[in-house]
Amino acid sequence: MKPVSDRAEFAAAKASEPKKLFIKSFGCQMNVYDATRMADVLAPDGYEETAQIEQADLIVLNTCHIREKAAEKVFSELGKLRQLKEERQARGESTRIAVAGCVAQAEGAEILRKQRAVDLVVGPQNYHRLPDLVRESVARPVVDTEFPVEDKFDHLTAPSDEKIRERGVTAFLTVQEGCDKFCTFCVVPYTRGAEVSRPAAKIVAEAEILARAGVREITLLGQNVDAYHGMGEDGAIWSLARLLRRLAQIEGILRLRFTTSHPNDMTDDLIEAFADLPALMPFLHLPVQSGSDAILEAMNRRHSAQDYIRLIEKIRRARPDLALSSDFIVGFPGEADADFKATLDLISEVGFASSFSFKYSPRPGTPGADLPDQVDEAVKTERLYRLQDLVERQRQQFNASLVGQVTPVLFEKPGRHNGQVAGKSPYLQPVQIDGSAELIGRQVPVEIVRCGSNSLFGRLVETGSEGAA
Ligand code: 5AD
Ligand code: SF4
Repeated sequence: MKPVSDRAEFAAAKASEPKKLFIKSFGCQMNVYDATRMADVLAPDGYEETAQIEQADLIVLNTCHIREKAAEKVFSELGKLRQLKEERQARGESTRIAVAGCVAQAEGAEILRKQRAVDLVVGPQNYHRLPDLVRESVARPVVDTEFPVEDKFDHLTAPSDEKIRERGVTAFLTVQEGCDKFCTFCVVPYTRGAEVSRPAAKIVAEAEILARAGVREITLLGQNVDAYHGMGEDGAIWSLARLLRRLAQIEGILRLRFTTSHPNDMTDDLIEAFADLPALMPFLHLPVQSGSDAILEAMNRRHSAQDYIRLIEKIRRARPDLALSSDFIVGFPGEADADFKATLDLISEVGFASSFSFKYSPRPGTPGADLPDQVDEAVKTERLYRLQDLVERQRQQFNASLVGQVTPVLFEKPGRHNGQVAGKSPYLQPVQIDGSAELIGRQVPVEIVRCGSNSLFGRLVETGSEGAA
């Protein structure tokens, strides 16, 4: 390093000196994506990511507010971080602690009152301001949970090719944020705000950067992704289907996925995309939450159980190899045994390849929290257990049904043992084969020979002409 003469130069040199950044994400895939964008926006300030939290000069907790347990975790985590900050301080090292994500948005300055070790609270719409906020927080604690008028995506730094390669051959890409649906159990419309779609040209440009650096699979993200209606490259408003068709043309993109969708926004053009876009994977996460019409109504889902079943039939007609996953909530206020049984019946009728299920957690500020007939915790536990037993059996059955079949696998990383390589099936099942690391980044047909409880095991199918499927 060259000698520094005056204070300003010293400060500038210090700003570009490498500093260590540790981001811990909770919750959904959008937080995983946001963590990458936070790392990208801080990189020009000299922040390098570390896997060792004890070495971090800046720790970001990227939080989730969806259920009480997730939100509570943040404060127990912050307690541990305060200790770490004190230990580092004793060694003469300073540590900034930032709380980002949906708890930051929901609780704002309250977080500083609850945990004084926190230096910075930043909501999901303000990540582009992180470098400035971190600098400001040296003098005093800072809170930024405004919904700014400018688009944060216009100000977020693009990752380097090297960084993209480090992150692997699959990537998330946010195309839409926020939600206008107001399901009565859900905090998202309050924490992530109103539904906003990014312009298609920006999404295409980001996807092209990813593809050029070696990304082969992109998962489009949005809290209500199938409601996407962004400005198209031709000036018209594009639907998600139109956007998917455009992204499928990008060289190198072998696979496209999108999550999370609402049944009422599964439009005919999106269903058609499943029929005629081979890059669009035949796997759809379409939360139904409950199989009881009374509960669906109380949840403000605006569709019936039959509407959902008919919709699934329609999508399956378009794409017969489609597999499904869903979210379920048990113990929503007023849920009687018969309502719960209706959910089990729906699960049996539809058949899910995988599922996420939760006990209802009353969230402050949502209408569900004030409803009478809150369900007893023990009843919720018992129902969750029964529901999970059913969906787990369906998952195992689905995994077993692939044995003996040939399925395309996109290889992502070296396998558990030497000489193995690991990837994913179209249905997001982990697949291991004996094969060389040269397969990473390629999609090739694999015969599934065995299934374990979480992974499938297969062997390469000799095709003569190997390459992308
Ligand atoms: N309690 C339990 N589960 C919830 N989810 C959202 N809000 C709540 C809540 N208050 C679940 C829904 C949603 C998933 C992301 O989290 O199933 O689809
Ligand atoms: Fe929450 Fe999804 Fe309902 Fe929006 S559609 S309120 S994000 S559960």
